[in-house]
Amino acid sequence: MKRNSKTRKGGSGNGGRGNSAQGMIIKGLEVVAETVGRFAAKTFPETTNAVDMLKADHAKVQQLFDDFEAEDNNHAKERLVRTALQELTIHTALEEEIIYPAIRALDDDEEHIEIMDEALEEHHAAKLLIAELARMTYRGERYNAKFKVLAESVRHHIKEEENEVLPKAEQSLDLEDLGRRMTMRKEELLKTESRSNGRALRSSVRKRQARPRRGSQTAKRSSQSAGSRR
Ligand SMILES: [Fe+2]
Ligand SMILES: [Fe+2]
Repeated sequence: MKRNSKTRKGGSGNGGRGNSAQGMIIKGLEVVAETVGRFAAKTFPETTNAVDMLKADHAKVQQLFDDFEAEDNNHAKERLVRTALQELTIHTALEEEIIYPAIRALDDDEEHIEIMDEALEEHHAAKLLIAELARMTYRGERYNAKFKVLAESVRHHIKEEENEVLPKAEQSLDLEDLGRRMTMRKEELLKTESRSNGRALRSSVRKRQARPRRGSQTAKRSSQSAGSRR
């Protein structure tokens, strides 16, 4: 036992350097594990109940709307908008692919179908604003107004969903099974989102690099006008 631990410690035969290298690797792994844990806790709520997961998303996105209202800095506002757009895109996809079909199938009553249709229409209207905002920066025309309108309509949608749609799911569906399906799908959607965000970032960097610098244009213009005066 003693010999084994000695062998492990001095296995590299480098007079202790192996220890510090191992220590650094372990420390690194601990940091990675902690970061992944924090990310997972932030991205996935601890619950596996589908309705609780959706309500946690609702709370998160409404907090982003509040933060946007309270923020004065345009860059910070734009970051909040981007986070909210990503959250909403994933949330609506999870509802449309997994939760809404399960709830719709519970009843063929006219009022129930109408409620589900309205919910889908509200998603549709939100997606139009999401698509426009995703192509813009804070400098875009009516950027803040567009986001505020999106926030208002999403708040209204959340209220209806929590009062009229989700209670039906709570009464009749296997929320643990739906929660598991939502978690798996969310992982896939997050990977797709991060790939497309990476592409968007690279294309925006390329555009910025291709754009002539303001200083160089001004210098060119002033040298041209100086030339024509001569
Ligand atoms: Fe919804
Ligand atoms: Fe929702």
